[in-house]
Amino acid sequence: MSFVEVENLFHAYGGRPILERVSLSAEEGEFVSIVGASGCGKSTFLRLLLDQERPERGEIYVDGDPLQGEPSRSRGIVFQRYSVFPHLTVRDNIVAAEALSRPLGRLFGNIRRAARARADATLERIGLGHVAGQYPSALSGGMQQRLAIAQALAGKPRILLLDEPFGALDPGTREQMHAFLQELRAETGMTVFMVTHDLPEAFKLGDRVIVFDKVRWDPHDPAAYGATITYDFDARNGGIPYQLQKDEIHGLAES
Ligand SMILES: Nc1ncnc2c1ncn2[C@@H]1O[C@H](COP(=O)(O)OP(=O)(O)OP(=O)(O)O)[C@@H](O)[C@H]1O
Ligand SMILES: [Mg+2]
Repeated sequence: MSFVEVENLFHAYGGRPILERVSLSAEEGEFVSIVGASGCGKSTFLRLLLDQERPERGEIYVDGDPLQGEPSRSRGIVFQRYSVFPHLTVRDNIVAAEALSRPLGRLFGNIRRAARARADATLERIGLGHVAGQYPSALSGGMQQRLAIAQALAGKPRILLLDEPFGALDPGTREQMHAFLQELRAETGMTVFMVTHDLPEAFKLGDRVIVFDKVRWDPHDPAAYGATITYDFDARNGGIPYQLQKDEIHGLAES
């Protein structure tokens, strides 16, 4: 069994199928980029992986264990919109994220001081040490998003879920964030699932690029069917679809 196993998921909202027959295996350390039309269920898929919602049918296994709707430090998420707390300083944003990832939820005394020291070390590492005492509104978009990623990392997750993390950033800042994410990944060996609308970004960062789309479509009732994974590209090999590779090998054998 792979590190992450998704088996035949089905999920609906208000009787409207959103995802159907979604299956996927990912190895530990793999970076899976997720693309697909707006509204096809990409964020929903991440919420199911996060275990924030239970699928109506199907099962997700992480490291051999089925997800059961319990919060866990093994998964961290950066949401589509900025997820930092505006009323907390940059340092306390990290401390709060760590506190939230603990069963008791609050930190006191020495434990809190130690958490602050850890937060400062984290901020130093991601180049935000000089703004630890400031509020997020004083930071640029790229800095805020770096802070959001640092928050997600506070619980030392084995799986990082990123929902269009760089969508609101200018191209230069985006490039910096790509380098930052690649370094983090090399350092931690994390497994990453990242939703993006930017195909070059999907192929640049991902080992794989999976596409969500509807295979069944009723023109009289567009909401009748959900989306599934229609392509699974190997991004490490020039983006050639797995299926095509197999066909090519077959073709070579025949000629
Ligand atoms: N909590 C919810 N209750 C009801 N419907 C929902 C809920 N969350 C999402 N939906 C619906 O499910 C569908 C999929 O939403 P989702 O946010 O997963 O799409 P997405 O692929 O992430 O889109 P985008 O690219 O625009 O972010 C949409 O039609 C959305 O309106
Ligand atoms: Mg979304």
